Amino acid sequence: MRKILDPAGAGTVAGYPKGVMPPMFGQTLTAKEFVDLVAFVMTLK
Ligand code: HEM
Repeated sequence: MRKILDPAGAGTVAGYPKGVMPPMFGQTLTAKEFVDLVAFVMTLK
C-alpha cells in the first residue's frame, strides 16, 4: 500500500533504479480501485 501511495518514500528494490515507478497512483486511483488493486497484489504472494 505504501509503495503505491509514495513510491519514492517507500524505498527502492535492490538492483533497480530509483524514481522509475510512477508517483501519481495515489491521486489517480479511486478508493475502490486502490483497495481492489491491493487485494489483487496480495493474491500474488
Ligand atoms: C498500479 C500499478 C503498480 C503497482 C501496484 C506497483 C507496485 C509495486 C510494488 C509493491 C513495488 C515494490 C516491490 C517489492 O518491494 O518487492 C514496486 C516496485 C517497482 N515498480 Fe511498481 N507498481 C505499479 C506500477 C508501476 C509502473 C507503471 C512502473 C513503471 C513504468 C513501475 C515500476 C517499478 C519499479 C522500477 C520498481 C522497482 C524499483 C523501486 O522499488 O522503485 N511500477 N511496484
